[in-house]
Amino acid sequence: MKPLRSLLAAAVGVLVLVPVSAVPASAGGSFRPGAPGVGDPYFPGYGNGGYDVKHYDLNVRYQPSTDLLTGHAVIYARATQNLSSFNLDFLGLTIDKLAVNGRAASYTRSGQELSIKRKIRKGSAFRVDVRYHGVPQTLQIPVPGIVLEAGFIHTDDGAVVAGQPEVAASWFPVNDHPKDKASYSFAVTVPAGLAAISNGVPKGHKTRGNWTTWKWEQRTPMISYLATATIGEFRISTTKHNGKPTIIAIDPDLPPDLADDAVGRTNEITDFLASKFGPYPFEANGAIVDDYDNLFFALENQTRSIYSKFFFDSGATTGETYVVAHELAHQWFGDSVAVEQWDDIWLNEGFATYAEWLWSEKLGEGTPQEIFDFLYAQPLTAPYWAPPPGDPGPVDLFDDSVYTRGAMTLQALRVTVGDADFWKIVRQWYARNRNGHGSTAEFVRLAERVSGEQLDALFQAWLFTDTKPAHPGGAATLSAAAADKPNAVKSLDQRLRMKR
Ligand code: TRP
Ligand code: ZN
Repeated sequence: MKPLRSLLAAAVGVLVLVPVSAVPASAGGSFRPGAPGVGDPYFPGYGNGGYDVKHYDLNVRYQPSTDLLTGHAVIYARATQNLSSFNLDFLGLTIDKLAVNGRAASYTRSGQELSIKRKIRKGSAFRVDVRYHGVPQTLQIPVPGIVLEAGFIHTDDGAVVAGQPEVAASWFPVNDHPKDKASYSFAVTVPAGLAAISNGVPKGHKTRGNWTTWKWEQRTPMISYLATATIGEFRISTTKHNGKPTIIAIDPDLPPDLADDAVGRTNEITDFLASKFGPYPFEANGAIVDDYDNLFFALENQTRSIYSKFFFDSGATTGETYVVAHELAHQWFGDSVAVEQWDDIWLNEGFATYAEWLWSEKLGEGTPQEIFDFLYAQPLTAPYWAPPPGDPGPVDLFDDSVYTRGAMTLQALRVTVGDADFWKIVRQWYARNRNGHGSTAEFVRLAERVSGEQLDALFQAWLFTDTKPAHPGGAATLSAAAADKPNAVKSLDQRLRMKR
């Protein structure tokens, strides 16, 4: 039975709605400014409201000797409300010309908010042209234990463009939040002799005089932080795998074979993950490894993960493949199935870490259960028990707990619902949310629907407390393999604590 209150609310809703929608001039409400943020609870200023971007056509020229970038961004969008003005996120660079639907538009800027005045009716498509130039500022992004150079990172021979949660606004005007995915085309012009690597499928490169323009096309929608235009000297190898191009770009200044062995297994590891999760999401694949000394992370840039060279200098043959499994797993979880909000981050990092455990099992270096038991046996002073991975807060967004306890949550779910239902949940999570988004609440609902079990207590304990939950299988008996620190744990340890 419906409570009386909601029936009343529905009736009132109808009474209010009818007269408003009967007035055609205000369909979609009166013309108001689009919100300056999408309302992310951790990062209220990220992204913008009132429209949806369909496509970015990015034309940029970069001169490494002066660090100067000249850009022309064409943004194709659709209004989701009656707009009197709308915002883009754009940081630091100078705007030379700005037009909406081909007509110059007036704008104001404050911090990263670029506010553009134009009346646009709800539902109508519009086009924004921004011509701009300047030296993109490299962002300093604090993650637990270290401040990372990220975004547009100037290197000796070009730039590495990568970072999260928000970096795109430092090199093009953008609706900068995972909520608004779009397709991209890139034309990146660099001094002849250098390469420019972006996402998706290569559309060739042409040299005219002293400049070469590299074109790339990313048709499957992408989150803005995953866009790259990484520039420099690169050895580029292109192979066809399952009919799709795999582009691996490695800095020739790196010792030969340093990174080649591990990132050279990209296709093999992708096939392994596809056998677990479902078909690989995108139309291309690949990797970028630059020799820049201050790059201390890897990132799951769509179709073209970017790796610090320091992941590949240990000499540990299998140990160096875990990070590749991690970034490739993000193509499914993080890139294709994106967070709704940044507090869903464990759905990215927990899954990518769990993929490392699956890869570990494939390598014969410990099963997910053995890795779980090793980690479970460690005291509460171990670095991954807190904060709660389901709500780490913006400062600890990339805390060890989000990765490790996030993956442990998945293993606890697996033990609770059994293998068959676990894999149904994982595969459905991807199949249903492919090229879209998913939240923690939706994941819990799916797990309960598939398993027919009440799982609130399990997820509450694993995601939202900072104590050690009960062992899901009862008392743990540590196997010999689990008593030794598994390679998967060593690899993540080293990556999370790099340069600390
Ligand atoms: N998501 C990345 C990974 O786990 C790592 C990462 C976290 C990162 N925060 C970052 C990379 C900030 C660059 C900038 O693979
Ligand atoms: Zn990750």
